[in-house]
Amino acid sequence: MSKNILILYKSKTGFTKKYADMIAEETGGTAMDFKEGTPELLSSFDRVLLGSRMHAGRIEGLPKVRRLFLKSSVRLSALFVTGAMPNTERKTIEEMWKNNLTREELSSLPHFYLQSGLCYEKMNFTDKAIMKVFSFMLKRKNNKTPDEIGFAEAIAHSYDISSREYLGPLLKHLSEN
Ligand SMILES: Cc1cc2nc3c(=O)[nH]c(=O)nc-3n(C[C@H](O)[C@H](O)[C@H](O)COP(=O)(O)O)c2cc1C
Repeated sequence: MSKNILILYKSKTGFTKKYADMIAEETGGTAMDFKEGTPELLSSFDRVLLGSRMHAGRIEGLPKVRRLFLKSSVRLSALFVTGAMPNTERKTIEEMWKNNLTREELSSLPHFYLQSGLCYEKMNFTDKAIMKVFSFMLKRKNNKTPDEIGFAEAIAHSYDISSREYLGPLLKHLSEN
C-alpha cells in the first residue's frame, strides 16, 4: 500500500479523528485536521482521503471540501463519513449518500459510512440543543417502529459503537487501488 496518503478530517467530538488516526496507522499515512489543508499540501501526497461527520442528514463541510479540491489538481481518492446510525441502517445510509453526493460523485468517488456514536461531553451548546429537540420529538412520535424506539433510547446518552473492524472495506479499497 502506498505510504503517501493524506487523511484529512473534520471532527468536533473526536470520532472522525479517531477513524482518521486508525487509517493513518493501518496505511502509514498522515492524518491531519481539514483546517490545515491547502492546495499545495494536497499536491504533495499521492492520495488524499477525507473524513467528516453526519449532521442532521448532511455531510458536514462538503461544499468547502469541494472548493478546496477545485483549487488543487488533486482528486479526492475516497470519502468516509461517521454517524450515530448503525451500519445496518443500509436504506437510510443509501438515501444519505444520494442526498449529499452529486451524480458524478456517487459513481466516481469511493465513499464509506462508519458507525461511531454520540459524545454529549464534547458537543458544543448548539449541537446539544439540536439533539435535545430531536430526542424530544422522537420520544413523542406516535407508532414508533422498534428501530425508532431503540434509537430514541440510544441517543438519550453518549455511546460509542465505533470499531477498527469497520474500516475493512475502506482499507481493502485502498490496497486494491
Ligand atoms: C446535531 C447533531 C446532528 C447529527 N445528525 C446525525 C445524522 O443525521 N445522522 C447520523 O448518523 N448521525 C448524526 N449525528 C451524530 C454524529 O454524526 C456523530 O456523532 C459523528 O461521529 C460525530 O463526529 P465527530 O466526533 O468527528 O465530530 C449528529 C450529531 C449531532 C450533534
